Amino acid sequence: MKVISNIATLRQELSQRRQIVFVPTMGNLHAGHISLMEQARAHGDTVVASIFVNRLQFGPNEDFDTYPRTFQADCDKLTNAGVDVLFAPSEQDLYPEPQEYFVEPPAIQNVLDGEFRPGHFRGVATVVSKLFNCVQPQAALFGKKDYQQLMILRNMTRQMALPIKIIGGETVRAEDGLALSSRNGYLSAAERAEAPRLYRCLQNMRAALLAGEDDFTRLERNAIDELAAHGWQSDYIAIRQQADLAPARSLNTPLVILAASRLGGTRLIDNIEI
Ligand code: PAJ
Repeated sequence: MKVISNIATLRQELSQRRQIVFVPTMGNLHAGHISLMEQARAHGDTVVASIFVNRLQFGPNEDFDTYPRTFQADCDKLTNAGVDVLFAPSEQDLYPEPQEYFVEPPAIQNVLDGEFRPGHFRGVATVVSKLFNCVQPQAALFGKKDYQQLMILRNMTRQMALPIKIIGGETVRAEDGLALSSRNGYLSAAERAEAPRLYRCLQNMRAALLAGEDDFTRLERNAIDELAAHGWQSDYIAIRQQADLAPARSLNTPLVILAASRLGGTRLIDNIEI
């Protein structure tokens, strides 16, 4: 695997290559990231990953400084997964001057996670479009674990007519159902044992919807209460339309349940499609 930090060097390396498939990450890689790398191979000849902890998408009181950085272990995992090129720019490489031009997503950036993380999706859309310009892939993969992120990036790519196919990868989970996340490392042993409740709640809500329950507000409130009884503080548990993440109105349209809830100091997100 070639490891490149400089944009000009990357462009030179990739100019020889056809059919580039791209998987952007912030590192601290786990099996969820690696499954995207493995799926990438089916969509092109050259698999390019990136590792960059993007300051622009972190709020002032979020975990930018403490976000886990495990570069050497990440390189070993990417090599084993058959990744061809790793783009790992420093902040100086990617933001040599203050970034003053942004990609501003529409109103969808202000709901759900966007309501609780102001500016987050603007930071994501800006860095991903910049990474797209550096790598110029024909396809890129993102996890459904970050459902709203995937939707915003898909819409951005379409509306900007970028010649890039956006592919969503299924969420990879631990055996007990907890969605893999770099932030799971913040959980204490007791919190880690409690953490699978979030996905169990989503599964129970899904079962209720499939059984015909259509009092969406009641289902959401019950889940928030059950989690609260076990020490969770929920930002939202929301039944939404898959198409636009607007509140669910009917069981006859494809729905998704999205959740963000805090256990101790750790904020976990998850979702389940109906
Ligand atoms: P990061 O959190 O490192 O995630 C990188 C990619 O891995 C994202 O597409 C994410 O949805 C996916 N992913 C994370 N956990 C997953 C799981 N358990 N199963 C499947 N896929 C999973 O998301 C980001 O980085 C950043 O916002 C980024 C897009 C790189 C822009 O900075």
